[in-house]
Amino acid sequence: MQARNIMEDIVKKYLDEMLALRFDICTCEICRQNVIAYALSRLPAKYVTTDSGAIHTIIEQVRVEQSSLILKELMKAINVIAKKPRHKEGQDRDQAYKLLMEQIKADRGADFSHYRDKVLKRRIALRMRARNVNSYSKYLQVLIHSPEEYEKLFEVLTINVSSFFRDHAVWDKLRTQILPELIARKKQQEAGIRKIRVWSAGCSHGEEPYSLAIMLYELLEKEEVEINVEIIATDIDKDCLAKGKSGRYDQMSVKDLKPQYLRRFFIPIKDEFQIVPHVQEFVHFKELNLIHDPGIMGVDMVICRNVFIYFNRSLQEYLIMKFHGALIQDGFFVMGNSENLMGEARQVFKNVDILLKIYKKIIPEP
Ligand SMILES: C[S@@+](CC[C@H](N)C(=O)[O-])C[C@H]1O[C@@H](n2cnc3c(N)ncnc32)[C@H](O)[C@@H]1O
Repeated sequence: MQARNIMEDIVKKYLDEMLALRFDICTCEICRQNVIAYALSRLPAKYVTTDSGAIHTIIEQVRVEQSSLILKELMKAINVIAKKPRHKEGQDRDQAYKLLMEQIKADRGADFSHYRDKVLKRRIALRMRARNVNSYSKYLQVLIHSPEEYEKLFEVLTINVSSFFRDHAVWDKLRTQILPELIARKKQQEAGIRKIRVWSAGCSHGEEPYSLAIMLYELLEKEEVEINVEIIATDIDKDCLAKGKSGRYDQMSVKDLKPQYLRRFFIPIKDEFQIVPHVQEFVHFKELNLIHDPGIMGVDMVICRNVFIYFNRSLQEYLIMKFHGALIQDGFFVMGNSENLMGEARQVFKNVDILLKIYKKIIPEP
């Protein structure tokens, strides 16, 4: 019959409870194992045969009888080991990471559980380096004591890199094929109701919706019929939206714009460039969390580029179907270059340009 040291079970359980409340020490697996080994070496072993039916009662009895000794030894082990970890710090630790994300959710209501851990960890590491801490538990302390750090953290977590006409091949295709097709469709409609509606989801500072607005303005000025344009630009990040709404960009932001676009569609003001009002008025900015908020319905096109990369597979599938629901029949869906249709979505979108990630909504035959 096999015998096992039930003291180990009790120590592990106590330790989990104690570590859950400690943010000031290393909680990595290596330290956890070392703390357990240290405490066990100083506690009396209690061997019980594993097939004993009464094992849970025995564990409970020993736990009650020895609790103060076990807690004392565990505290000592934590002080000796986890307070001064011998391994290189920064190898921190699934448990501490989980606690950090739970605390962010509890404090700010921001749920990143559907985001990809790999991407999040890389971004959090940037803030840890900036604050000169090398463990998630220490970074959590920073957030607790300096809540303004949250703003910086959210900035890197929802990173908002963008540029005007990002990926030129995609914009050429939009200008030469996709937008003319949309315009032709609208021309079939009665005057007065002709409107092109686009949802730019994850629009960052507005570079993407304004690129579209510029392109549509150029195409529509050649038309004899009047077609209205409404581009609904949404993002989770309030600061980005405020910048987008202002329509003002610095020199770096416009450096890759074709000179004719810069001359025609931007007014230089000191060192900055202000988008012209007749293009600006096409774009309406709105705060919208793609995961929790309802989508923008009845649109001719959804452009959601370089946003999916943050989300895990099941959330990507969910979002693609959400965009499918938002589009009218034959509406277009544009993804980022490194993003792909997943799961059910392959049946409900048809490829328009597989390389440029442009698709058209279809409703499959029943
Ligand atoms: C890399 S930018 C993409 C900007 C633009 N679409 C482009 O391709 O240039 C990603 C944007 O997604 C936004 N984002 C991240 N998570 C989001 C969410 N859950 N809901 C809405 N927007 C989100 C970020 O705030 C950020 O502005």
